[in-house]
Amino acid sequence: MRRPLIAGNWKMNLTRSEAVALAEAVAKQADQYPTVDIAVCPPFVYLEAVGRAIAGSRVALGAQNMYPEPSGAFTGEISPMMLCEMGCRYVILGHSERRQWLGETDSFINKKVHAALKAGLQPIVCLGEQLAEREAGHTLEVIRAQFEGSLAGLTAQQMIQTVIAYEPVWAIGTGKVATPHQAEEVHLELRKLIAQRYNPEIAQQVVIQYGGSVKPDNAQELFAQPDIDGALVGGASLKPDQFLGIIAGMKK
Ligand code: 13P
Repeated sequence: MRRPLIAGNWKMNLTRSEAVALAEAVAKQADQYPTVDIAVCPPFVYLEAVGRAIAGSRVALGAQNMYPEPSGAFTGEISPMMLCEMGCRYVILGHSERRQWLGETDSFINKKVHAALKAGLQPIVCLGEQLAEREAGHTLEVIRAQFEGSLAGLTAQQMIQTVIAYEPVWAIGTGKVATPHQAEEVHLELRKLIAQRYNPEIAQQVVIQYGGSVKPDNAQELFAQPDIDGALVGGASLKPDQFLGIIAGMKK
């Protein structure tokens, strides 16, 4: 059966010493939550230091992005193998901030997903609708298109290795969280799409996180939904008390 995953996406924040202190604080408490998988995703340049800070703990390391080629003339980019060498288990791919500000498309994200899986990394693939799309009643349509595009061509085994993060764009960094009902509707749709493409057993094994203004005071009701398997946390993952408070809300 699937295990919930709570991952902190630190985005472009923190100094090196702040990053290490935060990682140490999370690692120290992580043993208290043996039923939850926990990960932190610092900026690339802190991966090694954070990896050292969480060594031997239950906290896994993740990166925030990756280039889909194994090596070569790609100035400024980071390969899957480099992330493996840093000790990463996860890599966040297709975050809406990258879709929005860096022009990432579903087909480019799909290339990255395949490259990550080939390297033995677990991709955390983000998808979610914009406010105008929700208001126009197009949420599920957008989700279906992103699912088909960014997760094209995966074998059943690769699908199980992949984490999906549903992050409605209007809820990211806004303090406006999706209601448990709004989130569950999309998570259930994603599970249906996986069941249709593979089968219901595979669908039951895929971890689907919610992301967007998750805080200790709203985590529990989100996690109570049957198809919400943890969270991808931005702002609140920068404060150990808040991140640990969210983890404590996972009772499944
Ligand atoms: P916030 O938790 O700050 O809304 O960010 C969510 C997010 O984008 C995680 O990837």
